[in-house]
Amino acid sequence: MKILAVETSCDETSAAICEDGVITSNIIVTQHAHQIYGGVIPELASRIHTQHIVSVVDAALKKSNCILSNIDVFAFTQMPGLVGSLLVGACFTKSLALVHQKPLIGVNHIHAHVSANFIPQQKPAFPFLCLTVSGGHTQIFICTNFNTFKSIGTTIDDAAGEAFDKSAKILGLSYPGGVLIDQLAQKGKPIFTFAKPNMPQYNYSFSGLKTSILYFIQKQMQINEHFIQDNLHDLCASIQTSIVTILLDKLFLAAKENNITNLCLAGGVAANSLLRKNFEIMCIQKNYSYFIPPFEYCTDNAGMIAMNAYYQALDNNFVSLDTTPSAHCV
Ligand code: KG4
Ligand code: ZN
Repeated sequence: MKILAVETSCDETSAAICEDGVITSNIIVTQHAHQIYGGVIPELASRIHTQHIVSVVDAALKKSNCILSNIDVFAFTQMPGLVGSLLVGACFTKSLALVHQKPLIGVNHIHAHVSANFIPQQKPAFPFLCLTVSGGHTQIFICTNFNTFKSIGTTIDDAAGEAFDKSAKILGLSYPGGVLIDQLAQKGKPIFTFAKPNMPQYNYSFSGLKTSILYFIQKQMQINEHFIQDNLHDLCASIQTSIVTILLDKLFLAAKENNITNLCLAGGVAANSLLRKNFEIMCIQKNYSYFIPPFEYCTDNAGMIAMNAYYQALDNNFVSLDTTPSAHCV
């Protein structure tokens, strides 16, 4: 079975081919045009998707030595995301399914981040917990099979990636700042501490942390106006340590209380070096099995959409051509 999947939920235009459960191409074009605005501009994003989608799909087909008539199933990101951007991928993919008279799959983008863990040959055993952390979402899922992911914890305000990006903005770093904080933290020490949220169960909150960082920096700048420049590496290391500690404390609490010893990471923030390192160390200490998708499958990509679609196709989870995308999960 050959699947062509398209991802356009935010600011990456991506297309991938999955052949019998193996990803044979994963082309990603990131839109850098948003950087000067300090965040993604939805209207601009959808227009850039229309400019890139044909060449991105073409490149994916070429890399996998395929032509459109070889494709058995077409898949697109249905939700959640920026609705204009989702519409570009949905309309494009639906047109291909219609022309080639092939079945169609609408993929939940957050679930697809989890499915990125199924891309490597060695796959996690069920049940497993997956901490799914990106710019738009922060969830802990219990996964009982390739298609059943139950959310047991989520953020009540900002997502983990947003916490990185908003903290970076306070430090005057460019968007998206998560990766910059990661790089600058390499040369710093986590000497500053910030407010820790006290959320019930496995839920998260990051808006208090952001406010705590802002007030701390404002106070310090009254004493030394160059406080940020003078302490940039230590500030980044401290912010990174705070976010990573909050994320992992809840994940390991959920693992203990649910008696689950297989753990996974997913989403753009899973590219964070400290999160990966501490996750591995804690899993080894507790003798848990652990999985992290390769880097290119952590941030937004169509490979994970194709992988999710593969297992849905095996379950005959197809959608009709009048299925519409949705900004939120329905
Ligand atoms: O999964 P993703 O590409 O897009 C969404 O679905 O939102 O995640 C993007 C998020 C951004 O907030 C970005 O700052 C964050 O992932 N990110 C990182 C790192 N790489 C990407 N955050 C911390 N450290 C990183 N190395
Ligand atoms: Zn994502």
